[in-house]
Amino acid sequence: MTVRGLFPDEYLSPEVQAALPPGYRLRALQRTDYEAGFLDCLRVLTSVGEISKEKFEERFDWVSRQDGTYFVLVIEDTNARPPSIVGTGTLLLERKFIHNLGSVGHIEDIAVAKDQQGKKLGLRIIQALDFIAKQTGCYKTILDCSEHNEGFYVKCGFRRAGLEMAHYH
Ligand code: ACO
Repeated sequence: MTVRGLFPDEYLSPEVQAALPPGYRLRALQRTDYEAGFLDCLRVLTSVGEISKEKFEERFDWVSRQDGTYFVLVIEDTNARPPSIVGTGTLLLERKFIHNLGSVGHIEDIAVAKDQQGKKLGLRIIQALDFIAKQTGCYKTILDCSEHNEGFYVKCGFRRAGLEMAHYH
């Protein structure tokens, strides 16, 4: 049975796929990825909480209905038994009234499993999200990160712009 991903394969960069280590696969998040360790991969980033499979699927279904807005991609290591998710990243499309009804891409929730860091997977995830941003016509892509990660994003071609401010609720 083929499992449908969150977004169509045409948004997956062939160049990024070709640059991954053998057996590593770039693909859209799938409803069955609760079992593939998607949430565990995100735990390197921040607190995730104890999410049940049912709640995960509920959220996946909601996100799927926001057609063309959430591009959550993963890198899966198919050499592992069972195959497991080793990296993830999201491009969230904000459709604006300004700039001729332009779209801004927001890069969110980039995570590479601890034992897989340093293999350029983070860079590949950003390149894959850039590809989606171009395909969907975003006029810019922005993200927030800690000072600690600034060097990583500079290596990915980003530059410091503006200042982040926050209200925490
Ligand atoms: N500071 C400076 N340079 C870095 C850093 C860093 N923190 N991390 C990686 N780099 C460099 C690498 O050395 C490499 O440089 P090179 O090309 O000269 O060899 C280049 O950036 C690419 O590195 P990758 O191997 O692709 O990085 P990796 O796969 O380890 O992923 C990531 C980096 C995503 C930051 C990973 O360490 C991670 O998951 N960290 C924990 C979660 C996290 O902080 N995520 C980012 C949150 S911000 C957001 O989501 C918008």
